[in-house]
Amino acid sequence: MKQLTAEQLNRYQRDGFLVLENFATRAECEALQQRAAELVAEFDPQGVISIFSTREQTRQSDEYFLTSGDKIRFFFEEEAFSADGQLRQAKEHSLNKIGHALHDLDPVFSAFSRKPALADIATDLGYQQPLLLQSMYIFKQPNIGGEVTCHQDATFLFTEPLSVTGCWFALEDATQENGCLWAIPGGHRAGLRKRFVRADNGGTRFELLDESPWPDDLLMPLAVPQGTLILLHGLLPHLSYANRSPKSRHAYTLHLIDGVCAYPAENWLQRSPDLPPRGF
Ligand code: FE2
Repeated sequence: MKQLTAEQLNRYQRDGFLVLENFATRAECEALQQRAAELVAEFDPQGVISIFSTREQTRQSDEYFLTSGDKIRFFFEEEAFSADGQLRQAKEHSLNKIGHALHDLDPVFSAFSRKPALADIATDLGYQQPLLLQSMYIFKQPNIGGEVTCHQDATFLFTEPLSVTGCWFALEDATQENGCLWAIPGGHRAGLRKRFVRADNGGTRFELLDESPWPDDLLMPLAVPQGTLILLHGLLPHLSYANRSPKSRHAYTLHLIDGVCAYPAENWLQRSPDLPPRGF
């Protein structure tokens, strides 16, 4: 069944994003939050100090990150640790995100990610063979929730031709205070600025394609209520600022690619042959 009207598709093509309020119910949002809390409760943080930082991504991209494409793994906030490397507060208040295969390995996230309405949206967007490549549960913790600098999702999830779409679900109200998304409307019409690839030395690196700066003055906030789905074109420049407020801003993201496109071996995210990306 069609989900998007011609007017909505036109807006998506014009702006590079589309805000769909009330995509998920409050109960669905709470069920995902509850499931994430259970996963965190089962997680033993000892030995895992892979701090996720978009500012120093190359240095931080260790083995734990590089092999997380087909696993459920936990990444800490940069500001979660004291100088001696200990967590300053409980693990549930210290995590930046869970990634990157919740949608395949966890039944609750799998069911939400494979809602028929989402499959219909993928069809409306023109996917021939939609694949659910990657998912993240993002906590954007109160006070320490880190900034995500301006980027295009195709930098990280590159196909030939480009096919990635981001599905960003607000599990709580997202406001300017707690770190909502910001985007540059129409910015997807400029080309891809860089690619994030595996380096020969075992780490990762950015391959620069276009060094022109982002027109920051054109950024607009996408403050949305709980239950909203924001569709993000893979070339749309977007970011979120740090959360210095006392309220968390939980979100779930799912990234689709088209199986008819080529997926390069140098992409940072690789899935093992026994767990290839699946469709809806
Ligand atoms: Fe993104």
